[in-house]
Amino acid sequence: MKGIILAGGLGTRLFPLTKITNKHLLPVYDKPMIYYPLQTLVEAGIEDIMVVTGGNHAGDFLRLLGNGDEFGLKGINYAYQEKEGGIAEALNLAEHFADGDKIIVILGDNLIEKSIKNEVKEFSGQKAGARILIKEVSHPERFGVVEFEGDKIINIAEKPKKPKTNYVVTGIYMYDSQVFEFIHSLEPSGRGELEITDVNNMYLSRGQLSYSKLDGWWTDAGTFESLHRASQLVAEKHG
Ligand code: DAU
Repeated sequence: MKGIILAGGLGTRLFPLTKITNKHLLPVYDKPMIYYPLQTLVEAGIEDIMVVTGGNHAGDFLRLLGNGDEFGLKGINYAYQEKEGGIAEALNLAEHFADGDKIIVILGDNLIEKSIKNEVKEFSGQKAGARILIKEVSHPERFGVVEFEGDKIINIAEKPKKPKTNYVVTGIYMYDSQVFEFIHSLEPSGRGELEITDVNNMYLSRGQLSYSKLDGWWTDAGTFESLHRASQLVAEKHG
């Protein structure tokens, strides 16, 4: 399975911190943010990795991560997203890299406490489709929110004003090669982006979306509050 880290976008919610650098290069406790999703993939046994980035500071990723020696990698692939057209648009840039293989995608601002080795293993054994990782949170309206019938997911709503549950979709997604066909058929959402939630709902409508509840803490780091929280959680983990 190949791994893709999405680290494009403008990070406007963190302005002025992101005026002169990319959000994913900002510090989270003692390391640049991008180190954490990269470590998550490496720790789950993924060795073939692409980083998709964009904006004015893309060259800094190469300077920071180089060929990934620090992570025990033999190399890192890079792609450049011209605009901020959404998570699914960024992922589309990895089609050539994926080359028909199954992929695991992680958002560059998502940090987790524990290993996802087991989830990756489960998806390796899954014949086709997609797998998402969900988490119960107290403020779901900022995320993709899952709706259930029994224990079956029946819909995912992106940032709903009135969330139907407290379960949200974390920024860790596993897909088979159909994902790129689905992305090609997407139309921009109200916020002008190609939405990953639309992709997940396409898998859902074909009965091909499975899920696991993520163990341990999870946070994004895209707002001042969550960036601060991420540093605190990492600091606590280090003891
Ligand atoms: O963190 C999980 C959430 O991430 C999900 O629950 C939502 O369903 C999903 O839409 C997403 O929500 P956000 O609005 O928080 O995503 P954001 O625009 O902050 O982008 C998250 C990361 O995705 C960002 O750190 C880098 C990458 N990205 C985003 C955009 C818009 C790109 O690589 N390119 C882009 O154009």
